[in-house]
Amino acid sequence: MTATIGSNVPRFELDLFSDENLTDPYPIYARFRAAGPVVYLPAIDAYVLSRYDDVRAGLGDHETFISGRGIGLSDEGNATRKGVIIASDNPLHDQLRSVLSERLSPKAMNVIRAEISEKAEALVAGVVARTSFDAVTDLAQAFPLTIVADLIGLPAADRLRLLEWADAGFNLWGPRNERNIRSLPVWAGLIDYIVTQATRDKLTPGSMGAAIYEAADRGVISHDQCPALFVSYLVAGVDTTINAIGNAVAYFAEFPDQWDMLREKPNLIPSAFEEILRIDAPLQLVRRYCVRDVEVGGSPIPADSNVVLIYASGNHDERKFPDPTRFDVTRNPVDHLTFGYGLHGCAGQALARLEAHAIFRALAKRVERFTTGIPVRRLNNVMRGLEHLPVTVR
Ligand code: HEM
Repeated sequence: MTATIGSNVPRFELDLFSDENLTDPYPIYARFRAAGPVVYLPAIDAYVLSRYDDVRAGLGDHETFISGRGIGLSDEGNATRKGVIIASDNPLHDQLRSVLSERLSPKAMNVIRAEISEKAEALVAGVVARTSFDAVTDLAQAFPLTIVADLIGLPAADRLRLLEWADAGFNLWGPRNERNIRSLPVWAGLIDYIVTQATRDKLTPGSMGAAIYEAADRGVISHDQCPALFVSYLVAGVDTTINAIGNAVAYFAEFPDQWDMLREKPNLIPSAFEEILRIDAPLQLVRRYCVRDVEVGGSPIPADSNVVLIYASGNHDERKFPDPTRFDVTRNPVDHLTFGYGLHGCAGQALARLEAHAIFRALAKRVERFTTGIPVRRLNNVMRGLEHLPVTVR
C-alpha cells in the first residue's frame, strides 16, 4: 500500500525483510522505482534509493551518505562492526584500504591466476565425473572456501564455520528481526575464533592474513586494528562469491541457449559473469547514514536519517538496462552496481572475477547441459543465493 506523506516522498507500509519479500524482492523494487526517486519505509525508518542513477550517485557521495555510523539497519548489528573498513569513513578508510589493496589488486591476481585455474579444473573435473552433484555445496561453496581460506592463510580446521559466520555477518546488516537477533551469538563465535584460534602465529607465512599483521609492524595501521581488518576478508570474500557461482549454474541450466553461446565463444565468459552479477546481485542493498539535508531527483531526504541503497534494484532499472529481466550473456553490463561504487566499491572484485571465470571455463570444457532439481533458497537479510541446487550434467 502506498500513500504520500508531507513531502512528495511516497511511503510504503511493508516489511522488505519478510520471508516472502526476501524470496522474491524484485516486484517490490519495481514498485519503488516507479513510485519516485526516493521512497520512505516506516517499518525501518529509512529512505530508499532504488533507481540506477540515484543509487550510483548516492554511493559516490560518501560525504553526504556516510558509512562510519554503520552500514546496517540495527544498532546491535552496527556495534559489531566498529573499526571495520566497510563501516569507516576517511581518513580511516583509506588507511585500512591501503593494506588490503596491495594483496587484492589486479597485479596481485596475476600471481595467483594459474593456481586458481588449476584448482578450478580439479574441482570441476571431480564433480562432473559424478554426473549428479549439488552445485551449491559441492561446487559454489567448496571453491571460494578453499581459495579464500588458503589466501588468508587460515588454519585448516574450522573453515566450514566461515559459512555460518558470513551468513550471520550479513544478517546483521538487516533490521532487528529474528534473523538479525539470532546472528548476534554466532558473530560472537567468530570474534572469539579470531582472538583465540586464528592468531598471528597460526596464519600461513606470506598469506594475506599475515600481511595485515606485517602492515601493523611497519606502522601503516596499529596492531589493535588487525582483527577488524581480518574480519573483512572472512566475511566479505566468501558468501558473496559462493552465491554468485551458485546463481550462475541456476541461470545456465534455465537458459541452455545462453550456455551454448558461452561454450561456443568462451571469450564471452567475462561478460556472462557480469550479467550473472547484474541480474541477481548476491549483496542486495546497503545502508548509509545521511548527514545533511539533501535532495535526490527533487525529493528531500532530511539530515540524520537512514538511507537504503538497493544495488539489485539499480541493476534492474529499465532506464539503464533495457529489458532488465532478460538474461543475456552478451550484454556485458560492466557498470552494474553489484560491487558497489565509489569509495567502498568492492576491494575483492578482481579476485571474485578470477574465481568465477576459472570455474566457468572449467565447466564450459566439460558440461554440455545442466538439468536441475528443485533449488532451495537461503533467506538472509541482505544476501541472496541458494542453499542447495541439485544438478545433473551431460
Ligand atoms: C561476487 C563477489 C562479491 C560481491 C558481489 C561483493 C560485493 C561488495 C559490495 C557491494 C561492496 C560495497 C559495500 C558498500 O557499498 O559499502 C563490497 C565491499 C568490499 N568487498 Fe566485496 N564482494 C565480492 C567479493 C569480495 C571478495 C572475494 C573479497 C575479498 C577477499 C571482498 C572484499 C571486500 C571488502 C574488503 C570490501 C570493503 C571495501 C571498502 O569498504 O572500501 N569482496 N563488496
